[in-house]
Amino acid sequence: MNDTVLRFSDVVQTGFPAGKRVFIRSDLNVPLHPDGSIAEDTRIRASLDGVRMALAAGAAVMVTSHLGRPEEGALQPRESLAPVARRMGELRGREVPLVRDWVDGVAVQPGQLVLLENCRGNAGEKKNSEALARRMAGLCEVFVHDAFGTAHRAEASTHGIARFAPIACAGPLLAAEMDALGRALAQPKRPLAAVVGGSKVSTKLAILKSLAGKVDRLIVGGGIANTFMLAAGLPIGGSLAEPALVDEARAVMDAMRRRGAEVPMPSDVVTAKRLAAGAPAVVKPATSVEPDDLILDIGPATAQRHAQQLLDAGSVVWNGPVGVFELEAFGAGTEAIARAIARSPAFSIAGGGDTLAAIAKYGVARGIDYISTGGGAFLEVLEGRTLPAIEVLQQRAAH
Ligand code: 3PG
Repeated sequence: MNDTVLRFSDVVQTGFPAGKRVFIRSDLNVPLHPDGSIAEDTRIRASLDGVRMALAAGAAVMVTSHLGRPEEGALQPRESLAPVARRMGELRGREVPLVRDWVDGVAVQPGQLVLLENCRGNAGEKKNSEALARRMAGLCEVFVHDAFGTAHRAEASTHGIARFAPIACAGPLLAAEMDALGRALAQPKRPLAAVVGGSKVSTKLAILKSLAGKVDRLIVGGGIANTFMLAAGLPIGGSLAEPALVDEARAVMDAMRRRGAEVPMPSDVVTAKRLAAGAPAVVKPATSVEPDDLILDIGPATAQRHAQQLLDAGSVVWNGPVGVFELEAFGAGTEAIARAIARSPAFSIAGGGDTLAAIAKYGVARGIDYISTGGGAFLEVLEGRTLPAIEVLQQRAAH
């Protein structure tokens, strides 16, 4: 993160938090199984650094998060942070009490940690109500924003509270996320390569346009690549694509070309006649796709060429699979990309739901330098936007 925001580590160094009340906004919005148990706890684990830092500094520590998108004032039992409190307790080796109604006061002692119930249960949270934000700010001496995954939302617990708390600063996870993104995008070691996969150009058009002004190689995959292939005059048969966005795709390619950079087109593809687990997969040159073919992955020659570009890169940003990797027959392209990024000496950063699923599937997490906890927030940074919850910290630091 650029040094325009105050960091919690700096606040801790002053000794100020000892005996004070520290309010941490984390993103503990984790996936749950239908029975309410936690399916995946990365975000809970990632939040613990900030908690430990605050406790070690002698603070009375309150943590809150949203879980899902509840109706304000009508929190349902399945939207409670109770499973998160239990998991945090297991990870910390001691019980973490969950406080249900907390906006008007929280009983917590220095050295103690409490979890405050789903903050989206509070009326005014989503609309960033000033009255609610002021009440929350009144609970603490230090507000720590550590919820990178929610930093693209201007809500009372992510934005409003930062305006009114006596001290507002960035927690260690937020700072690490922004530092990693800055290293990959703001001052990258070149060549900088981006892999942008996924089904639709329309959902990632802003990212593609923003990256077209920055990266040296823009590797597109999935349905996105099909639209680019159309723009390049290649046949795509019945593959998923957005013909209405061909001009936009062409504009991205032209912008890259003008900078001496490239959007490499697939030379071969994996096709099938239908999208199904048992459908026979056929590798063919990208120029030989038939009208009833569906392109479901990049071919081996393309995968090898992309992999080489990633191995030779100085920095890599990865968001989205390049094929239907959920089906074995169409996963080789995404696997090759994942392995190349993991093997590459380049500084690599990856994020987004499908991307994390691919990283887990191919077991390459250790080879990737930074895996973001952000979904929508990660994408908005790639779009070149300043996240509102970070902007407010910058404004606080400037005054
Ligand atoms: C996420 O899971 O991307 C974040 O927790 C944000 O959740 P939201 O999209 O419900 O704001």
